[in-house]
Amino acid sequence: MHDLVNPEASAALPHHVAIVMDGNGRWAKQRFLPRVAGHKKGVDALRRCIKLCSARGVKVLSVFAFSSENWRRPPDEVAYLMELFTFVLRREVPKMVADGVQLHVVGEREHLSDRIKAALVRAEQATAHCERLVLNICFNYGGRWDVVQAANQLVQAQQPITEAALASKLALAHVPDPDLLIRTGAEHRLSNFLMWQCAYSELYFSDVLWPDFDEAHFDQALASFAGRERRFGMLPEQMASASTASPTPNHLIPC
Ligand code: IPE
Ligand code: IPE
Ligand code: MG
Repeated sequence: MHDLVNPEASAALPHHVAIVMDGNGRWAKQRFLPRVAGHKKGVDALRRCIKLCSARGVKVLSVFAFSSENWRRPPDEVAYLMELFTFVLRREVPKMVADGVQLHVVGEREHLSDRIKAALVRAEQATAHCERLVLNICFNYGGRWDVVQAANQLVQAQQPITEAALASKLALAHVPDPDLLIRTGAEHRLSNFLMWQCAYSELYFSDVLWPDFDEAHFDQALASFAGRERRFGMLPEQMASASTASPTPNHLIPC
C-alpha cells in the first residue's frame, strides 16, 4: 500500500481515519477523579466513534491506545491499562461481530502478557469475517518500532529495501494509509504514531479531551477534511484530472 493516493478515498469522506485518543488523564483530573477513571470513560468514546465511522461510511479506523513509550508511566497506571484492554477485548467481541467490525491489534506483541495475547488472538479470530469496518487498535505500538520491524523482515528475507517493500511489511499493510489523522487533547504532535503512514494524511487537532469527543466533534473533523485540498506534491489541476480517471492513474504512483 505504498501509493500516496488512496483510490478508495473520495474527496469528501476519508476512507481511513486514524485517531490519537489523548486527554483521558486530564479529563479525570478536572473531575477530581483518579486518572484511570478517564481511561475507562475513554472506552465509551471509542465505542461511540466506532459507531460513527460505520454510520458515516468510513471503512477503516485506527486508534492509538497504548504507545511503546507509555510503559514509562507509573506501574499502577500501566497495569490498569493492560487489564482494561484485556477486559474490553473480551466484553466487546459479540458487539463487534454484530456490528461487522473486523478487529486487528497492531503493535509489538512479544512483551505482552500471555493473557492479553490470548484475548487479542481470540478477538481477532472471532471478528475476521466481519466486513463493515476495519478497526486497528494500536497497542504497544510505535512508529519507529514499526519501521524497524519491517526493515528487519526484509533483511531476514534478503530482500532489497525499497519504499514498496518496506510498506508491505509495516503493521498496517492490510489497509491504505490514513486519509485523516485526528488528535484530541490539545497536543499538536504525533507521539510516535503511524509516522510512515501519515506522510500525506490530513491532520486535525482538537482541544476536546478524548472522553468528551462526541458526534458533533467527529463531524467537525469530517467537515474539515471535506474542505481540504490534497495535492500529493502535484498541482491542483493535475489532481482534478486524476480524480475523474480510474483506477489510480500510473502518473500518480510515486517512483
Ligand atoms: C491517552 O490519554 C491515553 C493513553 C495514553 C493510554 P492520557 O492518559 O495521555 O491523558 P492525558 O494526556 O494525561 O490527559
Ligand atoms: C499518545 O499520547 C499515546 C496514546 C494516545 C495512546 P501520550 O499522552 O502518551 O503522548 P505524549 O506523551 O503527550 O506525547
Ligand atoms: Mg496524553
